[in-house]
Amino acid sequence: MGRRPLIAGNWKMHMTPTETEAFCEAFVGMIGDGAADVLLIPPFPSLDRARSALDGSSVSLGAQDIHPEPSGAFTGAVSGAMLRDVGCAYVLVGHSERRHLFGDDDAMVNRKLHAVLAAGLKPILCVGEVLEERKAGSTEDVVSSQLDRGLADVGPEAFEQITIAYEPVWAIGTGETATPEQAQETIAAIRSWIAEHFGEAHASSVRILYGGSVKPGNAAELLAQPDIDGALVGGASLDPEAFAQIVAACG
Ligand code: PGA
Repeated sequence: MGRRPLIAGNWKMHMTPTETEAFCEAFVGMIGDGAADVLLIPPFPSLDRARSALDGSSVSLGAQDIHPEPSGAFTGAVSGAMLRDVGCAYVLVGHSERRHLFGDDDAMVNRKLHAVLAAGLKPILCVGEVLEERKAGSTEDVVSSQLDRGLADVGPEAFEQITIAYEPVWAIGTGETATPEQAQETIAAIRSWIAEHFGEAHASSVRILYGGSVKPGNAAELLAQPDIDGALVGGASLDPEAFAQIVAACG
């Protein structure tokens, strides 16, 4: 279907600006003009340094969060215009750490997603079930409800800007990866949900990533699944060599 893979590294609260610069200098030399789009998502203070260090490379930059309002008295918050100006192209919304540690509910995720679109940036909407939900057999219901609420009031034209990341919460940072079959099954269900709500054309062009303990050793078999269009990588994206190996797994 011609979907180009996207490999994204979510650094979470790791990497000072100085460490970011060293990473980027090493990393750009390790990836060729390969078969994948590559995206780094450093913490806010490291974005500007990353942008300079990545200058002239094909690696894109993303942010880990956004405030839903365009500006105002919101101490500690960061707007879409700021992220765009510093060189971001993408913004994560609905990451499970934001949902579970910072209280972002589906309504907030939806507001943030609209703020990303309003700033001319591309949202990566993260969805995924916790272990009890998987054990109870409700994975698809949980994910459908997160999609339904997270994508409320998004029109089909805006949908073109959107990437989805399926990240089972029990696989994030735990070393326990979903099997390629489990990841494929849920991502195929997400694609069917999109076909139902946004039409077949969008369902076949949208990129849907898998995230949760992706490593050099398991990336190739995950990425070989027909509906998995890339990876959202946490821990393994902090090491330039490991992250370059995951990029290389796209072929
Ligand atoms: P992990 O994190 O690769 O360390 O499991 C993935 C994520 O949180 O996006």
